[in-house]
Amino acid sequence: MSGGDRLILGVETSCDDTGVALVTASGEILANVVASQGLLHDRYGGVVPEVAARRHLEVIDAVASDAFERAGVTPADVDLVAATQGPGLIGALLVGFSWAKAFASARRLPFVAVDHLHGHVVASTLEDEPIEAPFLVLVASGGHTFLAWVEDPARYEVVGETLDDAAGEAFDKGARLLGLPYPGGPHLDRLARSGDASAFSFPRARPGRLDFSFSGLKTALLYTVRELGEERTRERRADLAASYQRAIVDQLLARVARAVEEFGAERVALGGGVAANSELRERARQLAAELGVRLWTPPLALCTDNAAMIAGVARFVPARPYPDYLEIDAAARLERAAPVA
Ligand code: KG4
Ligand code: ZN
Repeated sequence: MSGGDRLILGVETSCDDTGVALVTASGEILANVVASQGLLHDRYGGVVPEVAARRHLEVIDAVASDAFERAGVTPADVDLVAATQGPGLIGALLVGFSWAKAFASARRLPFVAVDHLHGHVVASTLEDEPIEAPFLVLVASGGHTFLAWVEDPARYEVVGETLDDAAGEAFDKGARLLGLPYPGGPHLDRLARSGDASAFSFPRARPGRLDFSFSGLKTALLYTVRELGEERTRERRADLAASYQRAIVDQLLARVARAVEEFGAERVALGGGVAANSELRERARQLAAELGVRLWTPPLALCTDNAAMIAGVARFVPARPYPDYLEIDAAARLERAAPVA
């Protein structure tokens, strides 16, 4: 950490990952620790809100200690605290948000209440070669899928979004139909590598302008699986996975290409858990080369839910001084463009 560089503590507990990170005001990540609950929810086939909240409470102190140890700093070195306010599961959010407020208020530190989606938007501003505004970003996660135009990283303007399922949800539901464990995205990604993407033809929805729609695709897979029957589905699992993934990636990239043209974008970033998808990353690289734009695909640890991106938002958004933030609460839904002056 360079001298005089303020230290930001980030906390993220919006869903099933407990994250604590230490990031400097110049964007250097000193530690980015995530305790994932994936296996805990596997047997239920999805995240159970009550279980998630309780587990956050059990592990958050240990995750924070680990982050301080890895960063080689102490709580006394922290200058600013940032925590995810929403959107997400309210019980899960409350654990991290209250923990962070308590940490900040005990030390009279300033505090930033962060919009989780804003975190995904700015993830690419944290790398060694940070992206600079203006840029276009595709955020595709388990809960959200949207395109945003960023003139200034303190804000983002949603220019297109999914009308039904998120892309990650489409991956997870598709994976479930193919008998893969939860969360299915990474499993489907792996399985698709040995399949033929042209074996099955699934629909590519084209809703308005820059929007997305995935529910028809999921239904198409459901019908195909029913028609094939259990045994044939098992035999053709890799082909089904590859064809289904191809349809999701095609739709995502068609929208990116159109947005690049509409906004005259020169820089494009991917964010959210689905940005970990190997086909999306590879084909986004090809598309960027074709369109002559620069592409930022953050390392996987910055794509999936993490607290470094939450601390990252606090580099751009004004903080509230102690004790003004004590009355703010976590919220399952946030007004868009949440940053409050
Ligand atoms: O951003 P994230 O960690 O959490 C949310 O805010 O939702 O995204 C999780 C989503 C899940 O739906 C997961 O299946 C998906 O990202 N995902 C993937 C891959 N890795 C994670 N989807 C496709 N391919 C992957 N490699
Ligand atoms: Zn997320």
